[in-house]
Amino acid sequence: MTETQPDVVDVLTADHREFDRIFTELEGLRGRTGEGVLTRKKELVDEVTIGLVKHSVAEETRVYPLVAQKLDKEEAEHSKEEHAEAEETMKRLERMDAGDPGFDDAVAELIREIRHHAAEEESRMFTELRANFSREELVKMAEQVEAVKKIAPTRAHPMTPNEAGVRLAVGPVASLLDHLRDAVSGRGKSTD
Ligand SMILES: [Fe+2]
Ligand SMILES: [Fe+2]
Repeated sequence: MTETQPDVVDVLTADHREFDRIFTELEGLRGRTGEGVLTRKKELVDEVTIGLVKHSVAEETRVYPLVAQKLDKEEAEHSKEEHAEAEETMKRLERMDAGDPGFDDAVAELIREIRHHAAEEESRMFTELRANFSREELVKMAEQVEAVKKIAPTRAHPMTPNEAGVRLAVGPVASLLDHLRDAVSGRGKSTD
C-alpha cells in the first residue's frame, strides 16, 4: 500500500463524478430530437447504466456489508433500497427508444434518484467510512470494488436491447445484474 493509492471513498466518489458528467450532458439534450441527438442520448443512458450497475453491485457486495456490520445496518439497507429503485428506472429506460414519449422524463427520474443517493452517501456514509476504518482497510475495499467492476462488460454494446427490432423479455440490465451478482457471490462472498 502506497500513500498515493486511492481508498474506497476516492474510488466511489470518482464514479459519482463520472455519472454526474453524463447526467449533465443528458440534461443538455433534454427535449431535443434530431437523429444524431437521439443516438447520443441512448448511448449515454447505456453508458451510465453499465457504470451504475457495476458501482451498485460493488457497493452492495464489498462496502455495504461492512457498513452494516460495523456502522449502521439500517443505513446499508436504505442504500440498497435506493439502488433497487434506480434499477427499476434503468429497466424501464432500456425498453424505450430515445424518441419514445416518456424517455426524457425517465432519464430525469434516474438523474434525480442517483443524485439524491450519491449526495446521501457522500455526506454521511463516506464520512463514516473514513472515520471508522483504517487507511489499510479503506484501500483494501477500494481494490475489491475495482475487482468487482472489472467482472462486468465496459462497453455499451451489450446494453442495446432493440437490435433487429426485438424487445427482450428480460433486458440487459436485469441480466447484467444477475451475471454480476452471481459472479461475485460465486467467489464465496454472497451478501444475502
Ligand atoms: Fe450506492
Ligand atoms: Fe455510490
